[in-house]
Amino acid sequence: MKRIASRVSQLHGEGALAVYSRAKELERQGRSIIHLELGEPDFHPAAPVVDALRSAVAAGRDRYCSTRGLPALAEAIADYLKRTRGVAATGEQVLVAPGCKMALSLAMMALVEPGDEVLLPDPSFPIYPSFTRGLGATPVAFGLEEKNKFQPDVDEIARKVTPRTTMLIFNSPNNPTGTVFSDAAMEKLAVLARKHDLWVLSDEIYARILFSGEYHSIWSLPGMADRTVIIDGFSKSFAMTGWRLGYAVAPVEVIDAMDLLVLNTFTCAAEFTQVAAIEALRDSTSAVEAMVLEYLKRRDQFVTGLNHIPGFRCQAPDGAFYAWVNIEDTGLSAEEVQRLLLEEAGVAGIAGAAFGPGGKNYLRFSLASARRLLEEALERIQRVSQHWRAAISR
Ligand SMILES: Cc1ncc(COP(=O)(O)O)c(C=O)c1O
Repeated sequence: MKRIASRVSQLHGEGALAVYSRAKELERQGRSIIHLELGEPDFHPAAPVVDALRSAVAAGRDRYCSTRGLPALAEAIADYLKRTRGVAATGEQVLVAPGCKMALSLAMMALVEPGDEVLLPDPSFPIYPSFTRGLGATPVAFGLEEKNKFQPDVDEIARKVTPRTTMLIFNSPNNPTGTVFSDAAMEKLAVLARKHDLWVLSDEIYARILFSGEYHSIWSLPGMADRTVIIDGFSKSFAMTGWRLGYAVAPVEVIDAMDLLVLNTFTCAAEFTQVAAIEALRDSTSAVEAMVLEYLKRRDQFVTGLNHIPGFRCQAPDGAFYAWVNIEDTGLSAEEVQRLLLEEAGVAGIAGAAFGPGGKNYLRFSLASARRLLEEALERIQRVSQHWRAAISR
């Protein structure tokens, strides 16, 4: 009998994509929808990056290339991480992949065994628990709670470590809460990782999208460079989602293991996108700074506006481009609010359970839309929520 391998049944999808399909269907019916569901920047790569891509294709840079990524790009990534976040890694410690998700899954395939326990935040990027299960391991969630300003409670994490725990995954700034883990939390996490000999997978995809201060990677703390895997890439910081380009930075033995996985699967990331990515890392036009400034303005506008609507409350995120909004005072479930906002107001957001059980009373709205659209979304939310408040109190 034909069958599908059981590991696939352990995987799950992403809530954002389900809401997006329904929103698209409504648009086809002629409805006006404001898309705040996807984590996709509404910016495009800076002009010199697009020019570099054109020149690379014209120059025939369209061949198979190194499984680890172009050496010049690996070196440029190492320099960039040193310049932007003080990470001291070499080009040999870099592996380029088609997207951060691919870098993340290769690292997990290289390091996680069936039966292992993997610590990860709740709420967080849904692929962490999904892929952990797909590898036959068990995700063990720790909370990022509003009462702690969504910072990790490291004592809680310590209580959850068992002899089977092998990896700690986290993402700072966090998707969906926008939390930048404090230096104090980071130091305690490093102590925990060293004490229990854990791998740390630090997903730094939003590291450039910070609203104040400088980014500090756990890699740079004492004793962490030989147990940390940094995941980052071009999708968010350089608005290059569709280019599919990400990377891992890790101890050389981890990169060697991932390299073998690359050889057995996709062989290499496209050569011409890698050539153009070197131009992106030069930051020659300050496009990243301009984009982050715009996200900051949107954050302030949207968070302030939402906090004026009865039933909604939202702490201003310190990074990334999401608003994580508590809706428990609406008296409705997050799923019902998601449905009403989409069907009646034409505003697409995602009910927080898509990011873990800790997201039960929340909705995530992406700020990757122009300020005039966010303003319109706020007006629509205000209008529709007035109706349901009237209906509830009747
Ligand atoms: C936390 C986090 N990690 C990884 C990814 C995936 O990035 P990429 O599109 O480069 O695969 C995303 C995308 O939304 C994300 O939010």
